[in-house]
Amino acid sequence: MNQPDTTTPTRPDNREALPATPEALREAVLAANRHTTNPRLKQVLDSLLRHLHAFAVEVDLGYQELEVGIDFLVRIGKATGPEKHEGILLADILGLATLVGLIDAKKALAAGGTEPALIGPFWRAAQPLRENGANIAADGTPGDKLFVSGRILSLDGEPIANARIETWQASPGGLYENQDPEQAEMNLRGRFQTDSDGRFSFNSVRPAGYAVPVDGPCGELLEAQQRAIMRPAHLHFIVMAEGYKTLATQIFDADDPNAYRDVVFGAVGSLLHRFEQVSDKSFRLNLDLKLEPGAMRVPMCPLP
Ligand code: BEZ
Ligand code: FE
Repeated sequence: MNQPDTTTPTRPDNREALPATPEALREAVLAANRHTTNPRLKQVLDSLLRHLHAFAVEVDLGYQELEVGIDFLVRIGKATGPEKHEGILLADILGLATLVGLIDAKKALAAGGTEPALIGPFWRAAQPLRENGANIAADGTPGDKLFVSGRILSLDGEPIANARIETWQASPGGLYENQDPEQAEMNLRGRFQTDSDGRFSFNSVRPAGYAVPVDGPCGELLEAQQRAIMRPAHLHFIVMAEGYKTLATQIFDADDPNAYRDVVFGAVGSLLHRFEQVSDKSFRLNLDLKLEPGAMRVPMCPLP
């Protein structure tokens, strides 16, 4: 329950009126946060409030601009639904999702763990569990074939059995199944489990790069910034195993023309792989994904 606060200097019955300066206001706002009981929430809010006030002062923010910003956030919420998560897309195009992934994986990266990459807005909650070796491409899906195999390993190279792997990718047309009425439900998506040697495998088709959705407020922002809107071709992976920190990552096609121009800043060095050509229209990708010890967590899933 909210406790009455008898000490915050902004109370109307306080005899000492605050000087009307940005600094005094900032201190009053910080003082209003001092009873927040959850210590992590208090730390995050303290810092957020300090930076928010400093930002408004630095850019000399006007009230009309504040209205534009609030309206933008409201529209981000309204543009989010079962087809697309505009809020996640915003964190992605601002580079925030990639930054948080890097912060989270600091220790793993220092110890040779697999680099993370953002989950993005298109992971679905109920992706079908499939046998290793299964084809995640429904009959009739066009494109070059791609066979993906790999191992899930600990940092010291021990295989991790019974790890859960979520994978999803865009079609050779550059669309996820939920964006494309031509594709079968759950096409190019699957959930796999590693065998006793930590191995998994599946058949698919080679994905194409695509433009991020620009039909919402994020599109307006990208347009205002005059930014390129492409992502290089990639496959998504989320790996979950008891006793290990969950890894969300992507493997990028190093031959994609946009390999070094990812609009969401996710395509980093070690995640760029050459898809090995095995015949005219058939490619192969072999991966070792290394997990850091820690608590497993099921990430928030953007789509049903
Ligand atoms: C994706 O990889 O699915 C994605 C990430 C960020 C924005 C749009 C799509
Ligand atoms: Fe993607």
